[in-house]
Amino acid sequence: MEKDIYILGIESSCDETAASVVKNGRIVLSNVINSQIKIHEKFGGVVPEIASRNHVDAISYVVKKAIKEANINIENIDAVSCTYGPGLVGALLVGVSYAKAFCYASNKPLIPINHIEGHISANYISNNDLIPPFLCLVISGGHTHLVYVKDYNEYEIIGKTRDDAIGEAFDKVARVIGLGYPGGPKVDKLAKEGKEQIDLPKSHFDNGNELDFSFSGIKTAVINLYHKNPNINKADLCASFEKVVTEELLNNTIKATKKLKIDKIALAGGVSANSYIRSKFLELRNNGYEIYYPNLEFCTDNAAMIAVAGYYCMCSKIKQNLGTNFNYDELNSKMNNIKENLELNAVPNLKIGERI
Ligand code: KG4
Ligand code: ZN
Repeated sequence: MEKDIYILGIESSCDETAASVVKNGRIVLSNVINSQIKIHEKFGGVVPEIASRNHVDAISYVVKKAIKEANINIENIDAVSCTYGPGLVGALLVGVSYAKAFCYASNKPLIPINHIEGHISANYISNNDLIPPFLCLVISGGHTHLVYVKDYNEYEIIGKTRDDAIGEAFDKVARVIGLGYPGGPKVDKLAKEGKEQIDLPKSHFDNGNELDFSFSGIKTAVINLYHKNPNINKADLCASFEKVVTEELLNNTIKATKKLKIDKIALAGGVSANSYIRSKFLELRNNGYEIYYPNLEFCTDNAAMIAVAGYYCMCSKIKQNLGTNFNYDELNSKMNNIKENLELNAVPNLKIGERI
């Protein structure tokens, strides 16, 4: 490589203000996250207006800290990537506006990134050997998708939830049984002390895409069961809930690998931090599957994943412009193919693979 490429990533789609500097697409030099969990905890969930205000307060400090910790200067940054959707519009706008101002003032290109594609890209940080194509199971607070990652910047959704995201189900179950917010990590911890012995319903579809998911039925079943039996063993309930939802994730993922004739599976998103889900997917290695997931710190929202996605998005744009003559070694001299992108706006309901 003729020169190292440094991307500054900025993330503000929900309740984390984050900035990170990543070198050559996979080496994380800094990863600063200002979490608002403590602020939203007392409301039992994220309050959008409060989130936006706190992003405004934090963003400048967080970006400066990320550049400082990376031990580089602003001049060394080759491009800035920021999340522009999906997410809370007011929260997204803070990161997008900051990134635009930063790029305008320092004359750097701006690369818009889809938050979910960022989650998928977090896998490249921890797994140097992972290259597309692969199947990615995206399981987060707002999304549950099976995504066919055809290339670094080419995605196809092949299955998705018909109702709640899996993270929503974890959070709701935790809230109802009194574990607090955010519920996922608390259910994960308590489930370790329980037995998977409570019978809970599995989702079942008679029509449509067999790779789709549904989590509202199991969520309601757990809540009703708890309301009818407030003395039920909560640890057993958590363990049984995890078992049923993990079976659904595994079944659909395996079906998808057979359909696509692919044996490389990656997990992504906040719920991929779940220890039970990780261990059950790891068992698939015994059946010849390659299993990848991000390190725990890169499962939940962060900006390193946005910088990584920015790097590969930039590469594929340059590749498109140059046709087949693209060579990663020439990346730096081809950077002028990337525009400033100062017209960028937040797109709260942006879809995977959509380019706006
Ligand atoms: O990816 P993420 O940080 O934000 C979104 O893009 O949605 O995911 C947050 C979700 C929350 O629902 C949280 O409860 C869940 O990830 N989560 C977990 C665990 N850690 C975070 N769910 C289950 N087990 C965990 N260990
Ligand atoms: Zn996320």
